[in-house]
Amino acid sequence: MNLNLKGKSVLVTGGGSNIGRAIVLAFAEEGANITIGDIDTAQAARVADLALAKGAAGAQVIKTDVTDFEQVKAMFAAAVDKFGTVDVLVNNVGWDKLMFFTETTPEFWQKIIQINYVGALNCTRAALDIMIPQNSGAIVAISSDASRQGESREAVYGGVKAAVNSFMKTIAKENGRYGIRCNIVCPGVTVPESGDEVGGASMWSDPAGMFTPEQFDKIAKALPLKKIGRPSDIANAVVFLASGAAGHITGQVLSVSGGYSMIG
Ligand SMILES: NC(=O)c1ccc[n+]([C@@H]2O[C@H](COP(=O)([O-])OP(=O)(O)OC[C@H]3O[C@@H](n4cnc5c(N)ncnc54)[C@H](O)[C@@H]3O)[C@@H](O)[C@H]2O)c1
Repeated sequence: MNLNLKGKSVLVTGGGSNIGRAIVLAFAEEGANITIGDIDTAQAARVADLALAKGAAGAQVIKTDVTDFEQVKAMFAAAVDKFGTVDVLVNNVGWDKLMFFTETTPEFWQKIIQINYVGALNCTRAALDIMIPQNSGAIVAISSDASRQGESREAVYGGVKAAVNSFMKTIAKENGRYGIRCNIVCPGVTVPESGDEVGGASMWSDPAGMFTPEQFDKIAKALPLKKIGRPSDIANAVVFLASGAAGHITGQVLSVSGGYSMIG
């Protein structure tokens, strides 16, 4: 199967840590040029070096807070400057802290909305300005199975990720005429293999703060595939959806979660 990603310009937000890191490395193995937009440039630079070692045609890090539209536009300009265009956008940045809704505050809701939703709006808007004139492009958003199922302690995050799904479907409908495809990947619990794979700003810098070892065990046992997801599981699906092999797929929501959700 020819994924046709060699030499393509791929922009991954939040590419320094965990899932974003694995996505960068998977595109690197396909010989893509990669721009990582992240607030944690030290961690992202380590990933960029690894990407070059794994076969990326090029790699750069642009310090970007995706909630700031001016910074996002500058990140896309840097990608065009170095690699000629942007063929693929992966809207990967996301953030949550597990809490019951009754424990949360309006400030917390705004933070979730800004990072998970406004960040995706900013990046998608900047990407379309490049992709529409060239009549091609692929966008993949990293959502969450919390958007499809509802999940305790993820009320605001799950709702916002459902908004991401709906937004991306509309973008798929509006821009299919320009050869632009948009799809959504919903991870379940996806845990780094080691501490090296996450940055200081990561939700997983303290895995025990997310789930106790007993909870991890229970989660794995409850899944049909009986194992917790790893970042590469998500990256494989993202690379496929961004590639020429998925040329007739758009507006789809794909769960990569060991069977946690089964929606038909
Ligand atoms: N890991 C999971 O279990 C899981 C489950 C479902 C969905 N997801 C989703 O997958 C995506 C990646 O999750 P992860 O576990 O790899 O997260 P992570 O916290 O490990 O990494 C997030 C990355 O984004 C960067 N970042 C954070 N805020 C930023 C901002 N405002 N601007 C630019 N960069 C910023 C961080 O520095 C970090 O490199 C997110 O959208 C998340 O919601 C993760």
